[in-house]
Amino acid sequence: MNGSAAPGASSSAGRDDATRHHWFEPLAEFVGPAYLRYSFTKGTEQETGFLFDALELEPTALVLDVGCGPGRHAHALARRGCRVVGIDIAERFVALAAADAPPGAVFARADARALPVRPAFDAAISLCQGGFGLPTDPRAPDDASVLAAIGAALKPGGRLALTAFSAYFVVQHLEEGEAFDAGAGVDHETARVKDEAGAERDFDLWTTCYTPRELRLLAAAAGLAVVGVWSVTPGRYERRPPDIDNPELLLIAERVAS
Ligand SMILES: C[S@@+](CC[C@H](N)C(=O)[O-])C[C@H]1O[C@@H](n2cnc3c(N)ncnc32)[C@H](O)[C@@H]1O
Repeated sequence: MNGSAAPGASSSAGRDDATRHHWFEPLAEFVGPAYLRYSFTKGTEQETGFLFDALELEPTALVLDVGCGPGRHAHALARRGCRVVGIDIAERFVALAAADAPPGAVFARADARALPVRPAFDAAISLCQGGFGLPTDPRAPDDASVLAAIGAALKPGGRLALTAFSAYFVVQHLEEGEAFDAGAGVDHETARVKDEAGAERDFDLWTTCYTPRELRLLAAAAGLAVVGVWSVTPGRYERRPPDIDNPELLLIAERVAS
């Protein structure tokens, strides 16, 4: 755990996860802080302001950020007064998030598929495919266990905000070299990534894409009541009914009381 002991973390935090590996880790290791140069990371303040409202957060709420990356949303929420625990499987991103964390935000390496936390959180976020929608085995996606683990970390009545790639959008905008597995709903691309020094390297990325209906079904299976599924673009979160023209779907769901 980086920073002080995290509220909501169980005593086994990090122990069992340390050996698990994800293909995103070498990408994070390579890109480092240059991740925050990508345009899709530039709308953090708008996204956080919108979510503060949609999650009905009290200023001192305890929030879990799953797949927090370098901590941009966790930092923004902490600056608004929330206490935030950010977890990510990539050591490099956890170190970056912890390095310039404002008071109230702590970070740890953990696997979203087996979250080492108690049901202590007022809210959870998992944004920009933060552990949800990044399958290690495209034919056996982990997303149901990720959603169940996040749901189990929430207090009854606690809310989750999660984004996923829209299948409708992805299949309309396939680029050369990109392949969509229609059976699995998984998009595969090779992305050229730049590090801090401008060096380039190619990485394979697999992203599970969703329809609004699939998100609703998964949420229900995880014991979450759906508040809304909206079509969004990074930096322009709003309560827009699902369409086929926006790249992401934003799910807001609530852990049912019992
Ligand atoms: C595209 S980044 C999004 C980061 C951040 N949420 C944001 O909005 O900028 C996806 C993140 O999910 C993390 N991740 C992927 N699989 C994970 C898992 N199983 N458990 C925890 N983190 C995971 C990656 O390491 C990466 O930091």
